[in-house]
Amino acid sequence: MRLSARLPHSFEPNALSAALARLRAEGREILDLTVSNPTRCGFDYPEADIRAALSVPAVLDYDPDPLGSRTAREAIATHHGHGLRAEDLLLTASTSEGYGLLFKLLGDPGDEVLVPSPGYPLFDWLARLEGLHARAVPSYFHERWHLDLGALEAAVSPRTRAIVVVNPNNPTGHFLSKTEWHGLTALCARHDLALLVDEVFADYALEPPSDRLETALADPDPPCPVFLLSGLSKVAALPQLKLGWIAVRGPGAGNHRSALAFLADQYLSVSSPVQAAASTLLALAPGIRNQVRKRLRANLAALDAAVAAHPHLTRLSVEGGWSVLLRRPAVDADDACALRLLESTATLVHPGSFFDLQGDGHLVLSLLVPETPFRHGMGRIFPLI
Ligand SMILES: Cc1ncc(COP(=O)(O)O)c(C=O)c1O
Repeated sequence: MRLSARLPHSFEPNALSAALARLRAEGREILDLTVSNPTRCGFDYPEADIRAALSVPAVLDYDPDPLGSRTAREAIATHHGHGLRAEDLLLTASTSEGYGLLFKLLGDPGDEVLVPSPGYPLFDWLARLEGLHARAVPSYFHERWHLDLGALEAAVSPRTRAIVVVNPNNPTGHFLSKTEWHGLTALCARHDLALLVDEVFADYALEPPSDRLETALADPDPPCPVFLLSGLSKVAALPQLKLGWIAVRGPGAGNHRSALAFLADQYLSVSSPVQAAASTLLALAPGIRNQVRKRLRANLAALDAAVAAHPHLTRLSVEGGWSVLLRRPAVDADDACALRLLESTATLVHPGSFFDLQGDGHLVLSLLVPETPFRHGMGRIFPLI
């Protein structure tokens, strides 16, 4: 039987994943410098409080509302501030699910969304599974990363429905500047496009530029429809609880929210327990985020010290987020380099190509790795790259 053409032609793992599976099957302990699952990074979660929040009587209630429970939405609106209201929000089971709903909302099969690259690799599939094409538009690096607004505008076609940006971006860690924001919203307004802004990492500013756009919500009245995505997986470092949300602003917001509620009503995928716990979890989140921020800063400092001893390497600036780009002489392809490091040192890094970085000469490391393995990992791989 033929499967949908939206699916990959093959489910074979790529060479790096295959090598990783083989080494693990052989019993090799892998030092994973890509880990992005915060529950595996040694943070001290307030376990008793989290368990208590998930045991309140309301976890047994089923009172479905396609927008999500009002108390959870009120807590999220308070977390964001900037005049956001509970009625501007719709809950999802994750940010990824939020993308699925938005792509269903905005496009018909064959339509396109523009995505600045390098960027988060999941967009290709999230769009494709909804019948859309995610077209990459390269950003450029000049002292810091910049959106190429001219290239984005040139890429707009009659089938373009939206632009998707991540603020700060994964993996480049760059925030949108206010100038980029105004250019982007004006471009979307000119071409009747929606703007999707993924701010899952917005609470993790490290070295933000002075004119950074702290959040898209700072613009109360954008000239185009704006859909902001976020969720507990980064805001509270609790990906296992599966709660995301979409905030809707800009022209047509009321109608867009009603259409999203219609879509969400077909699934009702957000569990009662996480909605009942949301306000307590958000109250606990600052304590968890502080630990994450401390880790990010400690690893950046360790990385800078290690890079100073290997002058052929540079790390690009990280304005925010959980990852860092390491620039190296492109003596071999990034894919080959990552495979070589894995096989010779049992240390996993991501090649830049994984995030659609142009050319070779970039590896991507996670700053979430506990400090000691992070330093060991650098000690193992730096002499070989
Ligand atoms: C930019 C970005 N958006 C969304 C997600 C996924 O978030 P969620 O767990 O809420 O689906 C990630 C996960 O790493 C991410 O990097």
